[in-house]
Amino acid sequence: MILQRLKEETRVQHEEVEAAVDVMNQMFDIADYRRLISKFWSFYSAYEPELPLQALSDAGFDYSERIKLPLLESDARVLGLEFQAVALPLPDLSSVAKAFGSLYVIEGSTLGGQVISRHLKQHLGLTPENGGAFYFGYGQATGPMWKAFGESLTRFSLTANADDEIVEAARATFACITSWVGRKSSAAPTSI
Ligand code: HEM
Repeated sequence: MILQRLKEETRVQHEEVEAAVDVMNQMFDIADYRRLISKFWSFYSAYEPELPLQALSDAGFDYSERIKLPLLESDARVLGLEFQAVALPLPDLSSVAKAFGSLYVIEGSTLGGQVISRHLKQHLGLTPENGGAFYFGYGQATGPMWKAFGESLTRFSLTANADDEIVEAARATFACITSWVGRKSSAAPTSI
């Protein structure tokens, strides 16, 4: 089953992205948080427009109601961040199978987002209203949203015979995010 395979074959990459994000570290402060939101803001602003939304919808999955860029824009506004366009690594999203594999990473990250959101509230006082909207994500709906995604992905996998392509796209997406978030360069959007 595709979900099991994705989880197993990207387990190490999840550990790597967790280490790159490093948000649960006791030393993680508001300056680190601003840098992290800047990083994800630039990533999602390049990534989401590349998604083949119509083809995904034809394959039974509606991502349009899950677009995360507005959450990042709202956080960036509250935090006073300024956007700078930058070249960053993006996964290949040129087929529905690749998009599904990549979205496994994006939708799966909302699960960890719930843990992170609670942590940020406790340690930095961040809420959806004052700069923590992205990590709050779907909030209470996170479980059902993840389940619905998993069902769409599983249905697609059973008919498309493209599991290797799906897994490869998930691995490529983890690699892009880890490399982008972990990069120390100052090329990320800066604060004003
Ligand atoms: C410090 C940061 C992170 C923490 C603490 C964290 C934690 C978690 C937790 C607790 C789960 C739920 C596991 C379960 O219910 O079985 C999860 C799932 C997941 N996370 Fe993360 N996560 C982090 C960052 C990320 C990032 C940045 C991404 C991708 C961009 C990501 C991708 C995923 C995926 C794809 C799953 C689903 C795994 C599966 O059940 O197949 N995580 N994470």
